[in-house]
Amino acid sequence: MSSGRALVEELTALAEEAKSILGRADSFEHLEELRVLFLGRKGRLAQIMAKLPGLTPEEKRDAGQAANSVKESLTAQYTLRLEALKRAQDEAMLAGFDPSLPGRAPSLGGLHPLTIVSEEITSAFQSMGFEIVSGPEIETDFYNFEALNFPPEHPARDMQDTLYIGDNVLLRTHTSPLQVRTLLSRKPPVAAIAPGKVYRRDSDLTHSPMFHQIEGILVDKGVTMADLRGTLTFFVHRIFGPDTLVRFRPSFFPFTEPSAEVDISCVMCEGKGHVDGQTCRVCKSTGWVEILGCGMVDPNVLKAVDIDPEVHSGFAFGMGVERVTMLKYGVGDLRLFFENDVRFLGQFA
Ligand code: PHE
Repeated sequence: MSSGRALVEELTALAEEAKSILGRADSFEHLEELRVLFLGRKGRLAQIMAKLPGLTPEEKRDAGQAANSVKESLTAQYTLRLEALKRAQDEAMLAGFDPSLPGRAPSLGGLHPLTIVSEEITSAFQSMGFEIVSGPEIETDFYNFEALNFPPEHPARDMQDTLYIGDNVLLRTHTSPLQVRTLLSRKPPVAAIAPGKVYRRDSDLTHSPMFHQIEGILVDKGVTMADLRGTLTFFVHRIFGPDTLVRFRPSFFPFTEPSAEVDISCVMCEGKGHVDGQTCRVCKSTGWVEILGCGMVDPNVLKAVDIDPEVHSGFAFGMGVERVTMLKYGVGDLRLFFENDVRFLGQFA
């Protein structure tokens, strides 16, 4: 039977031994083994304490107090070591990379190039006071043709390969129906711009069955071709730069008289017709590229919407957004706009 004094000595020795061993534990596993060895339910401290019942009450009190303080100090040693090991583990992890490096930015989508250019074009006209209007993609013969001065059976209807849905119902072949719709719902002075999808029975390298147009219409008293020219020149300079040349070439549309097509100096060769001694592939060496159709609103169109052509006059224009975008960014293949390859689209972000 051990005396109280011997037990206290045993405890003191245990504390000494455990202190130096715990302090050297070099892994979580090792530390855990030592915790079980010294502090576990059947560990060294528990073994010593199992001897307490054999002591006198006084010895029991002294030894009990000693045992408690040993337990406290061993637990503290253990916790200290555990925290040191955790810190070392964190530091080892940090040593593997540079925490000051910037994070990886999540890739955000961007606007489609056709949307970007469409917005640029409409905002150029908005800055001149045009309002944005829109209308249905499914149209009637009246808005798409008849009110635009295409008489029934008129060969001009064949200029556009129409996709018919019913007898008089079709997918609009151009945004020009918005000239009619706008003039029916507003009284002059009117200045409106109408971006939207149009459809034609046509599909090859430079034609897609669905594409985008932007229509413009302005009607007031005393509007002349000079206003049309000034407006379109401002627009061309905004989109293609102030050095771009603009030329009007006589043309024909049933709904404008006179009609013109607008060419700009080639964006590729700057009007020279050649690039590095080679024929320019964009303008085919002519130095000019066509960008839109326009003209003075035909009196017959004004009459169809109850506007007196003796009092009011106006101009209209229409352009293809794909075409403007191809010229502006030097895109050679129309199909790239519809394949949605992110490697292509990402270049416009
Ligand atoms: N609607 C014509 C087209 O699609 C373009 C145009 C619009 C021409 C307005 C003159 C006036 O080709």
